[in-house]
Amino acid sequence: MEAHILTIIYLLASVTFITGLKMLSNPATARNGNLTAAAGMGLAIFATIFLYEGSDGKPLGNYEWIFGGLLIGAVVGTLAAKKVKMTAMPEMVSLFNGMGGACAALISIVEFDHLWHAEGGDPVFMDRMKLLIILLGLIIGSVSFSGSMIAWGKLNGKVKDFAFKGQQVVNNISILLVAGLATWMVVGLPGDMYWYFHLLLLLALLYGVSFVMPIGGADMPVVISLLNSFTGVAAACGGFLYDNQVMLTGGILVGAAGTLLTILMCKAMNRSLLNVLIGSFGGGAKAGAVQSTTGGTYKEINVSDAAMVMAYANKVMIVPGYGLAVAQAQHVCHELEKTLEARGVEVKYAIHPVAGRMPGHMNVLLAESDVSYDKLLEMEQANEEFKTTDVVLVLGANDVVNPAAKTDPASPIYGMPILEVEEAKTVIVNKRSMKPGYAGIENQLFFQPRTSMLFGDAKKALQDLLSELKSI
Ligand code: TAP
Repeated sequence: MEAHILTIIYLLASVTFITGLKMLSNPATARNGNLTAAAGMGLAIFATIFLYEGSDGKPLGNYEWIFGGLLIGAVVGTLAAKKVKMTAMPEMVSLFNGMGGACAALISIVEFDHLWHAEGGDPVFMDRMKLLIILLGLIIGSVSFSGSMIAWGKLNGKVKDFAFKGQQVVNNISILLVAGLATWMVVGLPGDMYWYFHLLLLLALLYGVSFVMPIGGADMPVVISLLNSFTGVAAACGGFLYDNQVMLTGGILVGAAGTLLTILMCKAMNRSLLNVLIGSFGGGAKAGAVQSTTGGTYKEINVSDAAMVMAYANKVMIVPGYGLAVAQAQHVCHELEKTLEARGVEVKYAIHPVAGRMPGHMNVLLAESDVSYDKLLEMEQANEEFKTTDVVLVLGANDVVNPAAKTDPASPIYGMPILEVEEAKTVIVNKRSMKPGYAGIENQLFFQPRTSMLFGDAKKALQDLLSELKSI
């Protein structure tokens, strides 16, 4: 009886995962989508703890370990999620994803031990199918764990990019070695399997490190999304192993969603996945670029002039970027929007799909300050509206408004769809300096006749604009 109830609960939980995922595709329903999927996961976990019965009809047991682990995990997870800054979100996702990979690898380690001892240490009688799934979970989970840890280190600056000549060849040989060893273990069932299993674990962990090490620190969000899909596949292996439908569904959904997200991110940057994986893209933001290399000069605007231009505009379009997240200026930005609207100015936001450092970064940031969803325009819609916009206020965005993506075939971002802000009557760009953004390249927008630079931290600039506006 318990087994039937458990199957029905697994089915219900799987439905909540799918519905939750669907709800995540719209900012208005995303929060509830997250809660729905989390509720389904909670249901599946507690149902397993209380309703699962082994082949001997015994319940799970080990409750003190299970609840001890649940308690520690819940406390650490809640504190980490509450404390994390918006700009450090990709780091946290990477860390949590790494933990998922480690769990999948641990399942394989435990299950290999069971399989080994069940056959009295003689691999000849091992179930090859089970062994194959264990090894797949071990390899994918370990690569995901060590790769995610390196990505986490790169994002918080603790690990620097490291590449040497021929690294790709070494990496390709390593993965072939890992795949070859695993195949041989399944086909040949060697006597010293126990030893090879641990060698495989070590090689997979090392491969995860060498796979992520040469990838440009700035490309980490794409890598994290890819590793996230690996974790999903590793978890699905656990689902096969335990014949557990909900683990299988959850794993497959994570694997598929991570893969799609990786492809979408690459598309939005007009880069192939291969280019991301082998190229050390970006990272040049430390270099200063005060003057245009093509000889142009930029002009500055002060806060009171900027406030005046916006106060008498009919339509203002705000373009948020990574700098807005760094400055944590989303609340004051919303204040500015409300103040302008009170004066009869129409205000909208133009959202580029890869603005910021993670998918949906700007949507989440603006939702935090209660900006209405229907004010957020996607890139295509925004590009249609720039022509009829009086003032574009670019807040800490750079690459996503760089016209070189359309005009300069030699540019690394050539072909990337951008927000065509230069079509508007006036463009005010707020950033702290003339330094380049993520792609490390100069932005010709800053030197165009309709553009004026409003230098300063986004939060301070917006606060000053707000007080000027209130005094007009
Ligand atoms: P970026 O091109 O990185 O430019 C951000 C700008 O913000 C910088 O030029 C910086 O200039 C400015 N800034 C930093 N701190 C600031 C502050 N406190 N106040 C005001 N300005 C500040 O950002 P973007 O335009 O949002 O483009 C995102 C980039 O990330 C794209 O190249 C995209 O391909 C890449 N990327 C995104 C994702 C996702 S999924 N979002 C994933 C991978 C890669 P100063 O230093 O002069 O202030």
